[in-house]
Amino acid sequence: MSRIAYVNGRYLPAREANVNVEDRGYQFADGVYEVCEVRSGKLVDAPRHLARLQRSLRELRITQPMPLTALEVVLHETVRRNRVDYGLVYLQITRGVARRDHAFPQAAVRPSVVVTAKNLSYDKNQETAKKGIAVITTPENRWPRVDIKSVSLLPNVLAKQAARERGANEAWFVDTDGFVTEGSSSNAWIVTADGRVVTRMVDNHILSGITRAVLLEVIEALQLRLEERPFTVAEAQAAAEAFVTSASQLVMPVVKIDERTVGDGKPGSVSQRLREEFHRFAHLS
Ligand code: PDD
Repeated sequence: MSRIAYVNGRYLPAREANVNVEDRGYQFADGVYEVCEVRSGKLVDAPRHLARLQRSLRELRITQPMPLTALEVVLHETVRRNRVDYGLVYLQITRGVARRDHAFPQAAVRPSVVVTAKNLSYDKNQETAKKGIAVITTPENRWPRVDIKSVSLLPNVLAKQAARERGANEAWFVDTDGFVTEGSSSNAWIVTADGRVVTRMVDNHILSGITRAVLLEVIEALQLRLEERPFTVAEAQAAAEAFVTSASQLVMPVVKIDERTVGDGKPGSVSQRLREEFHRFAHLS
């Protein structure tokens, strides 16, 4: 948790950083968010995160509270005040505070803006990546607009908890046709026996991950073959490699899917290479 949080224009000690009980984010999950990696105190791919934030706001018709350049200043300042070297910065914007009513407030309300930042252990992340993670699969039960990065994450919360309870780190949602959509907080990838890197195409059924987008550039630069298409659980279990991507996990090898070992049960060479190369392509500011 942040020691200092930005709340609606003020930087406050965490214990004083409160939002109103009638905030629509609290009552209806009526809000959007972004999570951005911090490296050497700098933001990783902030322009892309802010562009996605702007799109999420537009899709939900939430007023953009300030220009993106001003939001970026707040992100930097929150990182600086919390002395984050390696970690994450979290930005949340909700429709604001209004008397409880499902429909949008009639009078214009000011969106609520909260930014927090926390340190993480890079070494711990690297340790996990050396071993790889296990994932479980679970039926897709989210709404068909998960391309919007909304704070309405109950299915993701339950899926992640189910993964934890089964000794895994992530849960992959599987649609009614048997195809993997994405993880509860990451995008899903496999590498075929002949070295093709496969990830689902971007549509309303996955979040267009920023790590995913940057990795597509890495894949092109390394001249690896890419296929943007759905894959089944069985194809993933029989694949040479699997991995997930997100701002917090970067490129994280997957070595087990449900009860099946992927490849030889160790992180694959393509996944490891992509993880190593990733930050040469990421934008720092
Ligand atoms: N999660 N899919 C989902 C459902 C996610 O929540 C995330 C990110 C991703 C990957 O997106 P990106 O590469 O832009 O981080 C895909 C963030 C990190 C989170 O909720 O903590």
